Amino acid sequence: MHTAIIGAQWGDEGKGKIVDMLAAEHDVVVRYNGGPNAGHTIVVGDKEIILHQVPSGAPQGKLCVIGNGCVVNPDRLDEELKQLSDNGTPANLQISERAHVITPYDLLLDVGLEIYKGRQGKRVGTTFQGIGPAYMLKAARTGLTFGELLETDNLAGRVQELHEFTKAVLSALGVSGEDVYSAMNKDDSAVRMSRGLRAYFEKEMEFRKVLDSLQGHREMLSPMVSDISVLLSEVDDNGLSILFEGAQGTLLDVDHGTYPYCTASNATVGGVFAGTGFGGRVDRRIGVLKAYTTRVGEGAFPTELKDETGAHIQKKGGEFGATTGRPRRVGWLDLVIGEYAARVNGLTELALTKLDVLDDLDEIAVCTRYSIDGKPVRRFPASPRLLSRAEPFYQVFGGWKADTTKAKSYADLPPNAQEYISFIEQVLRLPVKYVSNGPKRDQVIVR
Ligand code: GDP
Ligand code: IMO
Ligand code: MG
Repeated sequence: MHTAIIGAQWGDEGKGKIVDMLAAEHDVVVRYNGGPNAGHTIVVGDKEIILHQVPSGAPQGKLCVIGNGCVVNPDRLDEELKQLSDNGTPANLQISERAHVITPYDLLLDVGLEIYKGRQGKRVGTTFQGIGPAYMLKAARTGLTFGELLETDNLAGRVQELHEFTKAVLSALGVSGEDVYSAMNKDDSAVRMSRGLRAYFEKEMEFRKVLDSLQGHREMLSPMVSDISVLLSEVDDNGLSILFEGAQGTLLDVDHGTYPYCTASNATVGGVFAGTGFGGRVDRRIGVLKAYTTRVGEGAFPTELKDETGAHIQKKGGEFGATTGRPRRVGWLDLVIGEYAARVNGLTELALTKLDVLDDLDEIAVCTRYSIDGKPVRRFPASPRLLSRAEPFYQVFGGWKADTTKAKSYADLPPNAQEYISFIEQVLRLPVKYVSNGPKRDQVIVR
């Protein structure tokens, strides 16, 4: 049986940990959307591994696949593969020939677009990994696929086109090289943390350098690039099982998320099929739901906590981005979002994560509906204008005020924690199959 792991909120729900755990029961682990904007954390022993592009099945030694729905930065892939080899778990990786290459031009365009939008107060707060521009070029039928990168005998011509395109877009946006350069020098953690960006701008934006770098990756990539639709259907025919690893989360999906404050790919279940060319059944669809809510970047967040409780959860939960180091915004669990994620993805069960982060709280609130302009609203609104006016209605629970990190079974959890979990199950009409009570591999309760 094949399984999909899907973020039920705005990303960073703890998908990496759940994928690492379930990889043990599957043969192949597949990423179907996004790129290095993802940061999936796995803790093996005392070692923390953060994966951005390689599927989280790599530390388990599983066959890993990057689907056509992904955009991949080969420079960063090279680093990630080296990191895995150094850890003693070299990745066995295949990349779809239809996946798109993120080039230095996409990184520049990402900064340029954010500067342009910022002038109108509409900055998205991207990870500056070139994600939006790579998908933009894909939709514009201008992007470079991995198949083309390996096959073309005119790579120089293609890079020249991307160079011209980037120059033209930045110039049309009224964004100069100096604007990009000074944005990178500002005390903006996202930009500062964005690896290699400055180097690209200062040196590698030169056409020759981009070309040389892409050409240099051909040898590394050549044995990895293939038709993964064929591979996955053979895996299926042989009775082996596939674990699909979503990146980002339902509310960051470009179609179903909080557009325009979202990413550029399909994080929801539809992305599994569009982003891999797998046409079989995916019967288990596990929504990863954090016991509270976080969000990185701009956009409405009805249950956001800007008080001491929020600061406490942020600190205790280590809510700082695995990709950019940015502090994550924190708020109460929102079951209007939970219901939406269950519906859009056809979820069959939930993995509830980071329950332990709530251990010290006196009271824990859960949003069960909104009030918008004085009217009760139970369904997540598509309109960002309506969402920004949504006031949460809370059901308040007594905290359990006990350490849950050592619980091995559901019965070990304090009664108030069990009550919290039962409430989620009742409202969402889904079983909470896994309860994660710490970052380590063995800190999980399977029911
Ligand atoms: P992902 O993007 O969904 O894979 O999640 P991230 O890796 O970006 O963020 C989740 C963070 O929470 C990581 O630092 C994990 O090590 C950590 N984590 C995962 N599950 C738990 C848990 O149950 N309790 C605690 N305290 N930390 C967890
Ligand atoms: P994982 O897989 C949390 C957010 C960014 C920004 C918006 C658009 O680790 O859960 P992008 O660079 O994709 O164009 O940024 O999406 N974002 C994430 N937030 N977790 C992620 O991935 C994210 N990937 C993108 O912060 O608001
Ligand atoms: Mg993450």
